[in-house]
Amino acid sequence: MSRSIVPAGVVLVALLSPLPLRAAPPFELKSLQLDLPDSDRTFPDGPGADVINGNCLACHSAGMVLNQPALPKAAWSAEVDKMIHSYKAPIDAGDVPAIVDYLARIKGAD
Ligand code: HEC
Repeated sequence: MSRSIVPAGVVLVALLSPLPLRAAPPFELKSLQLDLPDSDRTFPDGPGADVINGNCLACHSAGMVLNQPALPKAAWSAEVDKMIHSYKAPIDAGDVPAIVDYLARIKGAD
């Protein structure tokens, strides 16, 4: 029969002990100074930039939009409708024309 190296009584004391047997390492939070790339985070300046920056950046970066191929205006309009109806983007109906015009201007196609 094999004998346990640690006597059963020691194991029991360890399990029942209310005190931590080993001191926890000191917990320390540190602030880091990071430079994040900001190239694609907002839309380029121009008419309607404020409206699109205010409505289209809650869920993804501007890069999600700017890295798409150029599209006809009707396709941009359908894309904005998709954001509103499929993804529930809370966009005021009055802001939609300015957004579609902006997209057609910076990423439009015939
Ligand atoms: C409520 C969240 C939300 C808002 C606000 C939002 N989008 Fe999106 N958008 C999404 C999601 C979700 C996807 C799909 C992401 C994926 O496929 O990984 C997406 C993807 C896209 C794409 C990539 C093509 C596609 O259809 O998947 C474009 C372009 C786009 N959004 C444009 C816009 C524009 C323009 C606005 C402002 C009018 C906008 N989004 C606002 C949620 C949102």
